[in-house]
Amino acid sequence: MRIAVLKEAAAGETRVSATPETVKKFIALGAEVAVEAGAGVTASIADNDYAAAGAVVGDRPSTLAGADIVLGIQGPDPDSLGGAKPGAWVVAGMNPFGERARVDAYAAKGFEALAMEFMPRITRAQSMDILSSQSNLAGYKAVLVAANEYGRAFPMMMTAAGTVSAARAFIMGVGVAGLQAIATARRLGAQVSATDVRSATREQIMSLGAKPIFVEKVAGIEGEGAGGYATEMSEEYQKAQAELVSAHIAKQDIVITTALIPGRAAPRLISDAQIATMRPGSVIVDLAAESGGNVEGCVAGETVVRHGVKIVGAKNMAGTLAADSSALFSRNLFNFLSAFWDKEANKPILDEEIGDAIRLTQGGKVVNARLLG
Ligand code: NAI
Repeated sequence: MRIAVLKEAAAGETRVSATPETVKKFIALGAEVAVEAGAGVTASIADNDYAAAGAVVGDRPSTLAGADIVLGIQGPDPDSLGGAKPGAWVVAGMNPFGERARVDAYAAKGFEALAMEFMPRITRAQSMDILSSQSNLAGYKAVLVAANEYGRAFPMMMTAAGTVSAARAFIMGVGVAGLQAIATARRLGAQVSATDVRSATREQIMSLGAKPIFVEKVAGIEGEGAGGYATEMSEEYQKAQAELVSAHIAKQDIVITTALIPGRAAPRLISDAQIATMRPGSVIVDLAAESGGNVEGCVAGETVVRHGVKIVGAKNMAGTLAADSSALFSRNLFNFLSAFWDKEANKPILDEEIGDAIRLTQGGKVVNARLLG
């Protein structure tokens, strides 16, 4: 069983899908690990560190030669996988809806593509969940980016020269990223409020010492919804939410938006007219920028200024903490493959629940229900 770890080819991708720690663990399971030279450089891992952990480090063709499993952060170009075994697994964050043509190409080339972001949200798969591990870091970093862009301080400061008032931060979308954003903004001394459509988040917001801001007259999603995710809200709810946000946002200095709906464009939470009511110098960080954006006028990968308000279109925020995000992503991959490792066969054999959820292609065809339905 040979596992290949590729150097990421996507522009701006700094992360790597294995660390010396996971290389050692894969070898202890009985696998051979090959790492493409330079794969870890942007995550502060040298080729020598992989070699010392027992990996064979080489160029891409030698890394892929005879590979049974190819690991990646983002799905590698199917045309760049020459040498991997027929039917090899390609395991990565596949962006299956956004990169549908690439999924078809994996099928055409006979690879079995496994999308880590389709991991079901069940207790036993928590340690395999790349969305959680990466969102957590993104939520933290979003607040630091906002603090950096903000021309004022976060905490209240009483000085001999007078008092600096605390920044008011509003977190929209309280999933994994939002919870970490609340905690980080609180630690920096901001006055924090937060909102979500899932009513279960109200208590979580309060337990972190922030103020919940909720639509009261129209029902949101009770509890967690299917798989812990939100769905698109009714028009009535969206209208009530817009009114609530309009009243609240004008008084905010920092807004972090994180709202996502799987397989759909991100919901629009802030309009240009609402931005115009904010104090100049305020900062909005849109963590949903790559999925279409929660904020009108936001551009992924850029910071634009509208009505004196900076709007940061976050792109691969987790990648700006490459060493930590790589370590967590790599552990997610190891936890996943090792949980299904069959000692006798010396390879992972997936069960139906997780296999059917994450398998995109098999036997030359696209097989995933979410892509076919
Ligand atoms: P996400 O990244 O899909 O969305 C972020 C947040 O935006 C969610 O809280 C969602 O409810 C909210 N949102 C969506 N539309 C909105 C709107 N129009 N207005 C305001 N907020 C909106 O969610 P994430 O962070 O991946 O987590 C969602 C839930 O899944 C959490 O409760 C988490 O605890 C649970 N979870 C469970 C796991 C497991 O059991 N294996 C693993 C990871 C998360």
